[in-house]
Amino acid sequence: MKRIVGRHAEHKKLESNILQISQEAKQAKKKYEDVIDATVGMLHHEEGNVFSYQVVNEVLHNLNDAETYHYAPVRGTKEFSEGVFDWVFGNNADMIRKHFKYSIIPTTGGSGAISNSFYNFNDFNQKVLLPNYFWSPYQNFALEANIDLKTFLMYDENFHFNLADFREKAIELANEQGRLCVLLNDPSNNPTGLCMTKSDWEEVIEILNFVNRMDIPVILIHDIAYIDYQMKEVKDSREIFEAYKNLDEDILAVVVFSGSKTFSLYGFRVGAQIGLSKSQTVVDNFTRVGDYSVRGRFSSVSQPGINVIGKIFSKPEYKESFLKELHEATKLLKDRASLFLQEAEKHDLEILPYCGGFFISVPTTNKNIFNDLVNDHVFVIPMQNIIRVAISSLNIKDIPELVKKIKKHI
Ligand SMILES: Cc1ncc(COP(=O)(O)O)c(C=O)c1O
Repeated sequence: MKRIVGRHAEHKKLESNILQISQEAKQAKKKYEDVIDATVGMLHHEEGNVFSYQVVNEVLHNLNDAETYHYAPVRGTKEFSEGVFDWVFGNNADMIRKHFKYSIIPTTGGSGAISNSFYNFNDFNQKVLLPNYFWSPYQNFALEANIDLKTFLMYDENFHFNLADFREKAIELANEQGRLCVLLNDPSNNPTGLCMTKSDWEEVIEILNFVNRMDIPVILIHDIAYIDYQMKEVKDSREIFEAYKNLDEDILAVVVFSGSKTFSLYGFRVGAQIGLSKSQTVVDNFTRVGDYSVRGRFSSVSQPGINVIGKIFSKPEYKESFLKELHEATKLLKDRASLFLQEAEKHDLEILPYCGGFFISVPTTNKNIFNDLVNDHVFVIPMQNIIRVAISSLNIKDIPELVKKIKKHI
């Protein structure tokens, strides 16, 4: 038998339990009326259709031919990049502009941003440090970039962010490989719903500075995919960025923005990596390799996606409509989460602390939990010692029954 696949690709086999389980749930739903599908990480209305923003629809349908069909420039447009920057940093945007050099590179979703960052800011066979609960495609991005992942414990005994374990593993890994690349998905973590505090961030940055002063390159990849779905006002959810002010000069922070989550533009594949550093040389290097990888890996990004986002951010009336709709979207999640928490308390079901995002997670010791729940017509995503419940796609009226069934099998 000839070896068709390159040696480096021999290990590849996509085992996305998330996509597969979602498919199984859809099939089951066709057969049985009482199926509860809590697998899908896309925001849905109560009626079951995706939460599409009316303002996105309006802008999208008014794009001209050039704005729809032409190739997008590798760097996108000024409206897109400055709009994304201002949106992401909110009331800290001026502070970031004052203290940092920066560059914004449009990517195919947050996924493209993370995948390019993994590839460009590590040597082959090195490891990226991240918490032990994580969105599983990170593993695919890592193996595709010829690197791997190393985890630290996300929680301490009080279910707070585990700074002590982060410190220990960061220093250990930095010493081992002479580089430290950290990935944190915050706020509204997928899968746990954790939000780190501003003081957690200050301490994380102190640890990164400590490693940096060991003359070791430090890269922080900050995945903020669910920042707009934190249970806080937009301006308050940006306070964590105040901690960035303390970053040492030559550290690179790559903030990952997802148009899928912020605008429900899931299928458009649009996002961005925002490279920040106090050193111009570091940002120049970020831009040099980032531009190259966009061209070399996916050529450019969705032109309509870039234009819709650019227009919404640059036209006050669009932005106002968007803010109103975002409020509705967050309210949907808030109502579902509140009921879930209330029912969990009623049934004495322990859940991980939830402060925002599309998911609530429940710790479990039942190794057979997935099958037990499927037999009861409930579909969730099983992960290491937890099950992930997507409240993004749940119907509120199913929540009491869902909690009861989870409690029965947990
Ligand atoms: C934690 C996390 N980061 C990033 C993304 C990126 O999504 P996209 O590539 O669609 O922007 C997702 C999507 O589910 C996610 O859950």
